[in-house]
Amino acid sequence: MPRYLVTGAAGFIGRSIAAELLRRGCSVRGVDSFITGRRHNLIGLEDMEFVEGDLSDPDVCERVCKGVEIVFHEAALASVPRSVADPASTNLHCVTATLNLLIAARDAGVRRVIYAGSSSAYGDTPTLPKHEGMLPNPISPYAVAKLAGEHYMRAFARVYGLETVVLRYFNVFGPYQDPTSHYSGVLAIFCKKMLAGEQPTIYGDGEQSRDFTYIDNVVSANLLASEAPSAEVSGQVMNCATGARSTLNQTFSILCELTGYNGLPNHVDPRSGDIRDSLADISLAEKLIGYRPFVNFREGLSRTVDWYKYSGQ
Ligand code: UD1
Repeated sequence: MPRYLVTGAAGFIGRSIAAELLRRGCSVRGVDSFITGRRHNLIGLEDMEFVEGDLSDPDVCERVCKGVEIVFHEAALASVPRSVADPASTNLHCVTATLNLLIAARDAGVRRVIYAGSSSAYGDTPTLPKHEGMLPNPISPYAVAKLAGEHYMRAFARVYGLETVVLRYFNVFGPYQDPTSHYSGVLAIFCKKMLAGEQPTIYGDGEQSRDFTYIDNVVSANLLASEAPSAEVSGQVMNCATGARSTLNQTFSILCELTGYNGLPNHVDPRSGDIRDSLADISLAEKLIGYRPFVNFREGLSRTVDWYKYSGQ
């Protein structure tokens, strides 16, 4: 029986966690519905037991939790604009699916669930950096849905004694992120377009900022969260980020250097549901799980551009 379950295993973050677990010789089960996950992300994960299924179906949750000790719950419809266009689907695949998974995990005797939270929980408050003591202020249906999942995690820790850990991700990027949808993360879209010599679009003036976080940092945070003593981490919520921010305009300039693109961006109206600035205080994750981002933004961007260049994706 696999010891680890990764949900959203054909998605960008899930496949990256699964790959690291396999590299460490762990036995892993993955589940994905392929709503946003991609079949070719499973290439290289052949040693993982894979189940195709949708977590909004409680039977699928029951099946995949069987025999598992630790769950990394990465499956979601991860997009603010998608949730603005279709809030019910976001609720189904982020909230209902998470509740189903928690019920199944509890019933199967899973020990710990590590949950992919989102920095969007903080909303558009002016205070920077964002720290976990701040009152959540979700402003998009996506943010509401991801925050609801966090609350379920804490409630299951309190009420049923399931160990749960929430990592609030800040704009994760890196290899395997899907660049093909207009719901994709901005860096995947920009890398793909600029390498192809196509003009990227910037929503608004480009002075909005994000704490962009390279995938390897996020994978390491997950593994640390899975190993930390329960008394330290169970029921906790902690930021998972770089702890530095860049504006889109700055990012565009770095990408011009890295990709050789020499055009200008196309500025259009700001996007609905967007927040202006985002920056994390990462001291709690450092204190509780010993997290430190070991790949900085520029190095992460450089690795990401290389990956899009050479993987042909
Ligand atoms: C949000 C969440 C993040 C979550 C992600 C899932 C915040 C701070 N972050 O990220 O935690 O994981 O959703 O999708 O709420 N943009 C362009 N051109 C493009 C695409 C995007 O200018 O072609 C802009 C957006 O308007 C936005 C910024 O780039 O200002 C980042 O957008 P995106 O990558 O979609 O992520 P967030 O919405 O910040």
